[in-house]
Amino acid sequence: MIYAANFKTNHTRKSTELYLQELSLNIKAKNVDDKVYIFPPATAMDSYEGDFTIGTQNAYAAHHGAYTGEIGIEQLDEFGIKTILIGHSERREYLGESQEKVSQKFSFFQEEGFEIIYCIGEPLEIREKGFEAVMKYLLAQFDGIDINYDRLIVAYEPIWAIGTGRSATVEEISTTHRALKKAIDNKPLLYGGSAKPSNIKEITSIAGVDGVLVGSASLDAESFSEMILS
Ligand code: 13P
Repeated sequence: MIYAANFKTNHTRKSTELYLQELSLNIKAKNVDDKVYIFPPATAMDSYEGDFTIGTQNAYAAHHGAYTGEIGIEQLDEFGIKTILIGHSERREYLGESQEKVSQKFSFFQEEGFEIIYCIGEPLEIREKGFEAVMKYLLAQFDGIDINYDRLIVAYEPIWAIGTGRSATVEEISTTHRALKKAIDNKPLLYGGSAKPSNIKEITSIAGVDGVLVGSASLDAESFSEMILS
């Protein structure tokens, strides 16, 4: 299983350091096949040592240059970071990242050989229209994306389940993942959206779920460790 923690705009450099110390101790007991990823805010990036991979929540599609407020490959290279989240719904919605922008970013980081966790997800009004509408919406989020990229992991995160405490149901995750797995040629597929210690076992037991991308419940090292060790 893959357990990925997206800190979003939470934690500082200091608290990330303490978090990773605690996590490292706790996950000594994890299954050897399980992989742990942490996506801290950019200000907390560093060369941390441990049985986890540090990724970036975002970066600009450039090595360096005049892109005020952004970071590029040069800033990631300093810490050996070669994993990136692309297409998160919060960036699509709040930062105005269109499918065209997202796919350009994807192509750039693919060229650079990055491992990409590519996020897709539908809003509530689409989910309410039924499964066909959901799949149409989700598949459109692969426009311009090379699904054959061998360092691709997809994360399905229904927007209405993110940060709401209300995860998608087993049935919703199961049917959506089954259809997505076919569309992405069986690439690793994570579920995200209110995954937490109390529902992790249920979620990771669903066929077609290869792991989870966790926001709120990953912010506390103990809670995230509990999920990894569940
Ligand atoms: P929550 O776990 O807080 O619902 O967030 C999920 C998410 O957006 C991870 O990228």
